[in-house]
Amino acid sequence: MAIQRIAVVGAGQMGSGIAQVAAQAGLEVKLADASPDLARKAVEKLGAVLAKLVEKGKLAPGDRDAVLGRIRPVARLEECAGAELAVEAVTESQRVKEEIFRVLDHALAPEAILASNTSSISITALAAATGRPERFVGMHFMNPPPVMQLIEIIRGLQTSDATYQAVVDLAKKFGKTTVTSKDSPGFIVNRILIPLLNEACFALQEGLASPEDIDTAVKLGLNHPMGPLTLADFVGLDTCLYIAEVLHRELGDDKYRPAPLLRTYVAAGWHGRKSGRGFYRYQ
Ligand code: CAA
Repeated sequence: MAIQRIAVVGAGQMGSGIAQVAAQAGLEVKLADASPDLARKAVEKLGAVLAKLVEKGKLAPGDRDAVLGRIRPVARLEECAGAELAVEAVTESQRVKEEIFRVLDHALAPEAILASNTSSISITALAAATGRPERFVGMHFMNPPPVMQLIEIIRGLQTSDATYQAVVDLAKKFGKTTVTSKDSPGFIVNRILIPLLNEACFALQEGLASPEDIDTAVKLGLNHPMGPLTLADFVGLDTCLYIAEVLHRELGDDKYRPAPLLRTYVAAGWHGRKSGRGFYRYQ
């Protein structure tokens, strides 16, 4: 059965991007956030994003209204009841995510699928907070979701073949490419990305080079679209630190230890682009 109605929980950068991808693929979307204001504002912001796409000739003017018309902001998780799939994209806190999944588990029909966009928390552990671990799966979008081609699909210990296939089919409908990962810390992307970003922090901390030169070296020397420190600011230094801590703790290898400089910046509230300051300053 093809999924037609989804709920996205969390109206931040990832959640609103996922809502845009789904609505552009023709799905009905409910966008939920703890603050009704945030969900409403996120939809307003999406209106501006879509208007830009119209300006660039990438979207027909009529399609902008049609896409926006398919996204409904909601304030209570219970209002997601009709969704065939709920994708959670809230802050990286196991406790907060588990609480959301407990509510969704009660609110949604028994056959609905629950998915988490977590970048590092165990899918098996989150699934265990619900009564439907076989209909629970990881769907890890990359930032920014409308632009990035990849979705990592993570199978928890009990994820059924039917659940896995349903989200692979949906990702295809979104026009994305999928890779399948075991439920292991950082999955594929962050297992490789976070040590790279962390090493760039160590390099800066040791005075190897300036932030600009570290970024230019990787950008032009390795043909990456962004240097690692710019990318860390873009992802969020708090998120980078959280994932580094998960890798270090769960894999038990000191090669994953977070750079002290990263800890210091996070402690100072320098969380990257979203806070106005990280390795660089932002308006
Ligand atoms: N919807 C549709 N298209 C959009 C869009 C949106 N919401 N936002 C931007 N775009 C399009 C723009 O229209 C533009 O298209 P054209 O080139 O055809 O004009 C294109 O995307 C690029 O946008 P910009 O010109 O604004 O910016 P840019 O060229 O500097 O690219 C970037 C921005 C795509 C983010 C690029 O710098 C990049 O690829 N950076 C690396 C991103 C990355 O590595 N992401 C993964 C992070 S890790 C992660 O997400 C996992 C995790 O768990 C931490």
